[in-house]
Amino acid sequence: MPNQPTPYDVVAYPSYTHPQTHPDRLAVIGSLFGLAPAPLAHCRVLELGCGNGSNLIPMALGLPTSEFVGIDLASQPIALGRQCISELGLTNVKLLPGSLTEFDPAQEKFDYIIAHGLFSWVPAEVREHLLALCRRCLAPHGIAFISYNALPGSHVRNMLREMIRFHVRGMATPPERVRQTKAFVKFLADAQTTQDEYRLWIKAELTQMLGHEEGHLYHDQLAEINDPFYFTQFVQQAAAHGLKYLGEADFFEMFDYGLADSARVTLKQLGQERILREQYLDFLKCRRFRQTLLCHGEAPTRTEAQPDKVPGLLIASSAKCSTPENDLRPGIMVNYTSSKAAKCATDFPLGKAALGFLSASDPIPLPFAALLQQAVANSNLLSR
Ligand SMILES: C[S@@+](CC[C@H](N)C(=O)[O-])C[C@H]1O[C@@H](n2cnc3c(N)ncnc32)[C@H](O)[C@@H]1O
Repeated sequence: MPNQPTPYDVVAYPSYTHPQTHPDRLAVIGSLFGLAPAPLAHCRVLELGCGNGSNLIPMALGLPTSEFVGIDLASQPIALGRQCISELGLTNVKLLPGSLTEFDPAQEKFDYIIAHGLFSWVPAEVREHLLALCRRCLAPHGIAFISYNALPGSHVRNMLREMIRFHVRGMATPPERVRQTKAFVKFLADAQTTQDEYRLWIKAELTQMLGHEEGHLYHDQLAEINDPFYFTQFVQQAAAHGLKYLGEADFFEMFDYGLADSARVTLKQLGQERILREQYLDFLKCRRFRQTLLCHGEAPTRTEAQPDKVPGLLIASSAKCSTPENDLRPGIMVNYTSSKAAKCATDFPLGKAALGFLSASDPIPLPFAALLQQAVANSNLLSR
């Protein structure tokens, strides 16, 4: 018997790709934190809640000797994805309709498991299944990516979400609910004329929401379930399934850059208590979304990134110089900002030269040795 249409069959979710879920990224974080992740050329990847495959299919295209499996409860997007796979003639990716709760890959293991935009939006029992599936199906050095709405920052969005859900109560059809959501968000945004901090902040939030596609608004703001978690709660739930924290998919999110020195000193006092330290970081950054990587509880990981792994990697950076010039002279501080607003500053000539080359080559990565050679040559020019 065919599955009942789900809300994602009725209103399509936009097709997104999420580069931070790519096995490439997961393998880098895994290696830095002590794992020996599967090579990208020969890995197996499972995506839960894969929608129409817009994230998974490009991976399969780029890594033709690896295998990709996606599963989604909504059959409509799966049908669209299958059509795309057949038009591209890909044989290394398959999309399956059905619930992850019934997915039984028997003894098959996956090196990378991705669940983006799923955990916070499904009932508690599905969350338990998701974590159990990761435990059961991850290879010994496998890595699971799970994103979720985080606290305390999600309180902010939830406040608006509750107002929106109040406004559309009693409206039954998706087009009407979306139309009224947009109208109401615009009404709220346009009403904020005074300049106090609350109003400036709420206007920024609402303006951002107005930029979202209709399917995104419908499923993210109007969904019945949208449960945020504190980081420590998430880590505890994962631990109950034999999984542990490996790191965040965005490396910079694990660090305290941008906070006052006094806060950084206090955080340092938490020493090796990494989980607690990151929970306090979430309080300090008012974090609203996390993209957490998990691995098996008994996998041989480190709590600090290992710099000695870096020479074996390809290096890329979207960071651009945010001071007038990338001045390589010693003692001159230069600031850099990435496309995700991560920031750093350095007066170290070699570092500045390397960042200059990475910026020019972005998004093409450079082998570490070649980058080092170029940066050394460039910074040596200064001392001649
Ligand atoms: C918010 S969308 C996210 C889609 C995509 N992963 C992304 O982040 O762009 C959530 C997806 O999870 C799917 N989903 C919900 N419950 C599921 C379940 N029990 N098993 C498999 N997929 C599920 C929905 O059908 C929907 O496609």
